[in-house]
Amino acid sequence: MNIVLGVSGGIAAYKAPELVRRLQDAGADVRVVLTPNAARFVSPLSLAAVSNHGVIIDQWGDASTGGVDHIELARWAELLLIAPATANILAKLAIGIADDALTTYALAHRAAMIVAPAMNTFMLQHPTVQQSMATLRARGVEVLDPDSGLLACGDEGSGRMPDVPELVEIVKSHFAQRDLSGKSVLVTAGPTREPLDPVRYLSNRSSGKMGYAIADAARRRGATVTLISGPTARQEPPGVAITRVRTADEMHAAVMAAAAQHQIVIKAAAVADFAPAEVADRKIKKREGVDELTIKLRRTPDILADVAKLSPRPFIVAFAAETNDVEANARDKMQRKGADLIVANDVANESIGFDSDQNEVLVIARDGTVTRLAKAPKSVIANRVLDLVVRQLTPI
Ligand code: PMT
Repeated sequence: MNIVLGVSGGIAAYKAPELVRRLQDAGADVRVVLTPNAARFVSPLSLAAVSNHGVIIDQWGDASTGGVDHIELARWAELLLIAPATANILAKLAIGIADDALTTYALAHRAAMIVAPAMNTFMLQHPTVQQSMATLRARGVEVLDPDSGLLACGDEGSGRMPDVPELVEIVKSHFAQRDLSGKSVLVTAGPTREPLDPVRYLSNRSSGKMGYAIADAARRRGATVTLISGPTARQEPPGVAITRVRTADEMHAAVMAAAAQHQIVIKAAAVADFAPAEVADRKIKKREGVDELTIKLRRTPDILADVAKLSPRPFIVAFAAETNDVEANARDKMQRKGADLIVANDVANESIGFDSDQNEVLVIARDGTVTRLAKAPKSVIANRVLDLVVRQLTPI
């Protein structure tokens, strides 16, 4: 993997040496091109030391050798990764300005390009930044969605560069063999909302992050992906056909209509097991002297169990959200529901499972084999789960 890492002048530039190291661990040869502003955030000397190559900052190259650095580099590179990408560099890339070594190189670069925008939320939302991102996407550049969280400026919101392990995972899957090519994968994600009346519902804390990460990873590995999603605030993964549903009944109908056309069904959604037996057509009012309200619930259809009855039957991956006896409960669930693999997470642990960026899971196969996946970003967990799916589907 010959990678040019372009670094522009945002605070996340301080992660560049770690990114170089982790890319090297994954087998990459990395050459770094810095903008002059990036060189204020991260030391070129450190980057030269970790990459074992000179770092390019000056667009005029080394005049004494007469070499044209950016053309030489473009012949060598298989990928240009720009991380972090500031609003400024996104705009320059979108309209083709070449006024420093990195933007000049980007014009000469012929292979694939991935950019990781990172900036304050207000800047990210500015129409010119959004337009630059859209222009680059339309040109075939992979523009990553920034993560949400605490930003360097102290604000909370979208605009963080994805963590280094996540970036490495994206680069690895770019180079990886497209081992799901020719396969169709149906993924469910997010919560369901079960209405009580026109303004209230029963739901759970699922954010959709785990299911969306699986859909995105499967698409990167060459699969044709359908995503059936409960209500979430997540951005739609590119290249994935998405159907939006609200209730367990709607999810059941959407999955049953699509499952038979897919070879693999992965059920990461947190589907309500019970829904209000009756839905009031007007807002339920509190009344004087009435201190209690009893809500009668009915069982929702078990989507997974119904998919398992299909013939021919797809390969089924269930998820189990458990708060105690995680492994034993997950094994029992796999048998009862007829899944081929079950991914069990301990949702009593606030740092993993529901609504967190990371997960830590046990994957149990029908033959009883248990694989522990250590705490990692959900994109990494998604790829490791898909590795196990591919292994199960590949005859020995
Ligand atoms: O969305 P995130 O915030 O990223 O959180 C991820 C997650 C915790 C939701 C996810 O990792 C997870 O564990 N999803 C499954 C949650 C769940 O509903 O588990 P369960 O043990 O109640 O259900 C077991 C399996 O049966 C699941 O695959 C579920 O999709 C499926 N099911 C459940 C009920 C139902 N009526 N029909 C179903 O098919």
